Amino acid sequence: MLKPAESNALADALSKFSQALPDRDRAALDRLLFLGLPGHDQLKLVSPGAILAPGEIAAFDAAKARVEPNQNTKTHSLVVILKATRRCNLRCTYCRAWRNDDSHDMSFEVLAEVMAQTLALPRLKHVEFIWHGGEVTLLESAFFLKAMFLQSRLKQSGTRIHNSIQTNGVRISEPLLQLFQHYEFSVGVSIDAPRQLHDSLRLNKAGRPTWDKVRSGIEAMRAKELPLALLCVVGPKTVELGAEALLNDLVGLNVRDVGLLNMVPENGCECRAPADSFIEWREYLDFMAEVYTLWQSRFADRLVLRELDDLHRSLQGGQPTLCYFAGNCAGHYLTFEPDGRVAACDKYVGLPEFGFGSLKNRSLPDLFRVSGNLKSAKSDIEDGMSEMSGCPWYEVCQGGCPHDRRLTQAFGTAEPGCCGYAPLLEHIATHQKAAQT
Ligand SMILES: C[S@@+](CC[C@H](N)C(=O)[O-])C[C@H]1O[C@@H](n2cnc3c(N)ncnc32)[C@H](O)[C@@H]1O
Ligand code: SF4
Ligand code: SF4
Repeated sequence: MLKPAESNALADALSKFSQALPDRDRAALDRLLFLGLPGHDQLKLVSPGAILAPGEIAAFDAAKARVEPNQNTKTHSLVVILKATRRCNLRCTYCRAWRNDDSHDMSFEVLAEVMAQTLALPRLKHVEFIWHGGEVTLLESAFFLKAMFLQSRLKQSGTRIHNSIQTNGVRISEPLLQLFQHYEFSVGVSIDAPRQLHDSLRLNKAGRPTWDKVRSGIEAMRAKELPLALLCVVGPKTVELGAEALLNDLVGLNVRDVGLLNMVPENGCECRAPADSFIEWREYLDFMAEVYTLWQSRFADRLVLRELDDLHRSLQGGQPTLCYFAGNCAGHYLTFEPDGRVAACDKYVGLPEFGFGSLKNRSLPDLFRVSGNLKSAKSDIEDGMSEMSGCPWYEVCQGGCPHDRRLTQAFGTAEPGCCGYAPLLEHIATHQKAAQT
């Protein structure tokens, strides 16, 4: 990487060289240099009219004009979860994230507002945009190109941006794949190993199984060298089929990074949820302990199971990578709905007390300032964390995920002063000790 002085000297030398060339050669050199630039830098050189319609240019200008000067928000790192559409081509049996019609797509006006408001926050060092739904691969590549254009024009010089999508992987068009490759997206693909389980839970609208389609999607993404991770939901049937069946089918997909999510019941109706629509925390944890032992003995060279890997490394003094173990998440993870409503992490969808208002009525710093819900979410999580700070495992779990804690409290299964992770941490620590002797 060149230092700023070196890159300025190189730019001067190139410019002198280019000016001495005949017109045709100069145009060819300009084109070559343009193609060699990273995607966002290319977009800085493109005129707005090449990407946006006239009405969108006006909406972009209006969004920029609404940004408040001199904001004193102190967030350095932000995760922006964009529910860019709530439509979906699947009907996974345990999912409540999809809606039925295209009134649930994010308009350009809302997109411009989200980009302008988030990227204008002062002192931001890193923003992760997670494109999430519904199923965002139902959107056209033009939607994402406009989003990349907005990012390139609104990004402040000290801010790093990264984009990722979360997808069911069954329908990714070639233009989308090319765009994700060009703008260096990472991709999370949902697949519920083992295969027979996936094909009974992750169904298309016609009720047909989708494992083979997801596998082809993974291959198409691998061919474009997109950084891939898998998300796999663990429910009562996963436990029935066992850890071995899960890991054998996961390893066959040849993707190293895997998240194992606990299947959660619908927010607000937790205690009335049918028993097969979620997994009890303790059952999930016992299963994760079994998975840990098997993973360590036979799969650790081929799979990184992110929840277990975080706990495993943290117990050996490493840093966690997941939000669950990183302390108070309130205000660092924001979900934006297609209509501009802002809420906490998308696990809380459907709980009005975790909604912070709408960008249609207020700017983001204004929402941060006035939202009583954000303040109370922050202080509730803080209170919960301090109740657990006496636990011997606290340094490792930092109180775990506050949404999971809420659930264990709703079911009355939490031990006082524990977020719920203690039995799994004991299991991992015992295993690590035994492995050292
Ligand atoms: C809501 S989907 C949206 C993105 C995309 N359609 C997909 O399937 O990856 C995001 C993730 O949430 C998971 N999910 C959906 N319902 C869930 C539930 N009740 N409990 C836990 N995870 C769930 C999905 O399996 C998926 O991995
Ligand atoms: S593909 Fe994703 S959003 Fe669609 S039903 Fe399945 S989990 Fe839900
Ligand atoms: S509520 Fe849980 S999943 Fe959501 S950001 Fe916080 S720790 Fe992460």
